[in-house]
Amino acid sequence: MKLRILFAAALIGATGFAPAIAAAAEPQEVRQEMMKKVGGATGAMAKMVKGESDFDAAAALAALTTIAEMAATYGEQFPEGSDTGFETEAAPAIWTDRAGFDAKLAKFKQDADAAVAAAPADLDALKAVFGPLTQNCGACHETYRLKNS
Ligand code: HEC
Repeated sequence: MKLRILFAAALIGATGFAPAIAAAAEPQEVRQEMMKKVGGATGAMAKMVKGESDFDAAAALAALTTIAEMAATYGEQFPEGSDTGFETEAAPAIWTDRAGFDAKLAKFKQDADAAVAAAPADLDALKAVFGPLTQNCGACHETYRLKNS
């Protein structure tokens, strides 16, 4: 009985799991996952800034590091032909005005790197980097992300 279960698990591993990983590697899905992580990290810090959770220096630095890492490679997930599919919210402007998009992304990365380097040690220090960093979200989304209707 145990052997059968193991065998079944091995079969699922061979036939079911591998295609799932391949599908997850589509750039539309990868970049949506990346932005979800950015959203999660931002949300964790927003709670601290709003006083809904206690300031935690390690958690804040981890969140800022996540954002900096995402910003560093996010631009690789927009190859030609990935402008549609997988319910992408990426706006056509990314491909018609790539330089503008890259500039927004570079500013985002710069602010995220500066925030990581600052390593906020108290709530005021976090607030000082959180404001400028999160201005990048709307500044990019308003042109380069389609609104959900
Ligand atoms: C340089 C541009 C840019 C910046 C800066 C940016 N985003 Fe995004 N974001 C996008 C694009 C483009 C999408 C849509 C990607 C897609 O659907 O293919 C997106 C999607 C999202 C999503 C939806 C993810 C999903 O599919 O579920 C969230 C949440 C998000 N962004 C949060 C943030 C937050 C929070 C910040 C700031 C800390 C931020 N973004 C900064 C470009 C940006």
